[in-house]
Amino acid sequence: MSAIPSIEGIHNILVVGAGTMGSQIGLVAALAGYATTVQDISAEMLARAREQLAARLDATVAKGRLAATDAEAALDRLAFATDLDAAASRADFMIEAATERLEVKEQIFARLGRLAPDHAILATNSSTLGSSKVAPATGRADRVCNMHFFNPALVMKCVEVVRHEETSQATVETTMELARRFGKEPVLINREIPGFIANRLMGAVQREALALAAAGIASREDIDATARTALGYPMGPFELMDMVGLDVIDFIARATYAETGDEADRPDPQVAALVAQGRLGRKSGQGWYRY
Ligand code: 3HC
Repeated sequence: MSAIPSIEGIHNILVVGAGTMGSQIGLVAALAGYATTVQDISAEMLARAREQLAARLDATVAKGRLAATDAEAALDRLAFATDLDAAASRADFMIEAATERLEVKEQIFARLGRLAPDHAILATNSSTLGSSKVAPATGRADRVCNMHFFNPALVMKCVEVVRHEETSQATVETTMELARRFGKEPVLINREIPGFIANRLMGAVQREALALAAAGIASREDIDATARTALGYPMGPFELMDMVGLDVIDFIARATYAETGDEADRPDPQVAALVAQGRLGRKSGQGWYRY
């Protein structure tokens, strides 16, 4: 097989990390017809992911949105594994959605660079680390890029494909096409920039919402309602922060500020205070709101 990654050469997908993003990305790939392995070092995470995805498929079938046979076929195409090396040796395309720690990602990418077939593209779902940070570890920097999905990955149409200086045109085209085959609407980002497009837009709205609430101009509820009813956003900024997770919001802000040093990117102390209290949003039962 040639080292030019083409869409026709992609049959097996590997998703590294079975958290909220990784597991749903895995199901997106399986629903699109790809033999997919979701890998995680934690067997417990894998078991939970399998259970949640099966429940989600059941609910979709119950709503009449998916034929029961298609749901079954998608689950059959989806494998869950703790062994990264075995999964990597078969993968034509890898999407890493593991923890946002550079040293962990570097280790994963170094291993994949060694073990994955020569033609395989190694993508990262990271929202805070440009793929240029992990590309040198792979020995195939031209076949490395960001492929950034949005939460909930089964629903949100956008995928940001971010190239770094050495990413080849073939890698970009194949990644964009794969996203389309996943039923997504990819956008291309030509140069790495902290926050890419979506998180920069989201950050701007959040900053303004936090400032308005902190100044007592309006309640959080009314700011959220305005975003929904005046601007047509599906959720207000506070609701969205709670859905994404305040720890994630805080992490993105810290990473962005560390890179840009721009005062506009300074992490918000109110968000940090909630995180310190364990109020992380929906997942912990309380964030800006109670659930
Ligand atoms: N996982 C999977 N599917 C979900 C879901 C979840 N957590 N929550 C809802 N859905 C599905 C529902 O099953 C339903 O599917 P159906 O159309 O087949 O019936 C569909 O989404 C609509 O759900 P609901 O009718 O229950 O509720 P809403 O119409 O309010 O939609 C929403 C829910 C899709 C989450 C919508 O509110 C929304 O789009 N919110 C904004 C999300 C957003 O902005 N995401 C980006 C976050 S930023 C990010 O991810 C970047 C990262 O780097 C931080």
